[in-house]
Amino acid sequence: MRGVILAAGKGSRLFPVTLHIPKPLLPIANTPTLCYGLERLREIGVSEVCIIVGDNRTSIESAFGDGGEVGMRIAYATQTEPKGLAHAVSFAEEFVGGDPFVLYLGDAVYSDSLNALRAQFEESGCENLNMVQHVDDPSRFGVAVLEGDRILKLVEKPKTPMSNFAMAGVYFFRSAIWDAIRDLTPSARGEYEITDAIQLLVERGHDVRAGIYRGRWFDTGTLDSFLDCSRFLLGNGVSIGAGATVDAQMRNCVAVGEEAEVRCESLEDVTILPSARVEVSGRIEHCILGGTIRHEGDLVGQILWQ
Ligand code: G1P
Repeated sequence: MRGVILAAGKGSRLFPVTLHIPKPLLPIANTPTLCYGLERLREIGVSEVCIIVGDNRTSIESAFGDGGEVGMRIAYATQTEPKGLAHAVSFAEEFVGGDPFVLYLGDAVYSDSLNALRAQFEESGCENLNMVQHVDDPSRFGVAVLEGDRILKLVEKPKTPMSNFAMAGVYFFRSAIWDAIRDLTPSARGEYEITDAIQLLVERGHDVRAGIYRGRWFDTGTLDSFLDCSRFLLGNGVSIGAGATVDAQMRNCVAVGEEAEVRCESLEDVTILPSARVEVSGRIEHCILGGTIRHEGDLVGQILWQ
């Protein structure tokens, strides 16, 4: 089975750092975000992956090359305009051919293996299997109505959710998805939604199912979700990259990138990016920092690159 990873987004909720490091390469606990996804796919036996990139193509391609270093074969396809996830997937059609494939949203990090989902997809022989998770606030997600493991209906970001099952960023498909994507019309937010394409599969009578994921799922696209994920990966520990120097009291969940220099009173729940120069007279808490930062007093809850 081949894999498709969507990584064309601009990471705008993490500006300005993602203006300097593309989101897929942004290190979480000192490992580029995309590495976590590649590893989850490798673990379920996927060895050939197409990464859908955008303006970030050059940097991503130079980071991962042909995939040899991560033990995979990696190809790239460029999404020419940001017109939604289904639009992004369409650029992988040639790479996938008519075979089954797994789609992975590149920002996502999962705590546990996706093996059970792959097995459920294979054993059921269904046209499409979607990973879902029971969440408190489903209105931020694609929402699925289930009967057993069958999906009866799907709506993207409904105002009044019909269930608590959110589409959790991993999708297994056979070939019917390609026609569904071709037949899509744009959603209210002007995008070609993958959720709408799957709803079309349901309407066309295909066997569409859900697999419930009980591990932790981090979307990593905002300051809070990024640091949440980092906290989970570091387990209250600290990760200091090669050549970095830190002159500070370090508490929980601190990641300092390679060659960075940091001087402050204390650090907690913080990511300092590679080669950053950070001098702060007070404490630094709940921040992602890069570039050269000098600051009097405390720095709390900031995404900064100066
Ligand atoms: C996308 C999908 C949505 C899914 C979510 C998972 O939303 O459209 O159905 O639940 O990813 O993270 P986005 O984050 O692009 O708004």
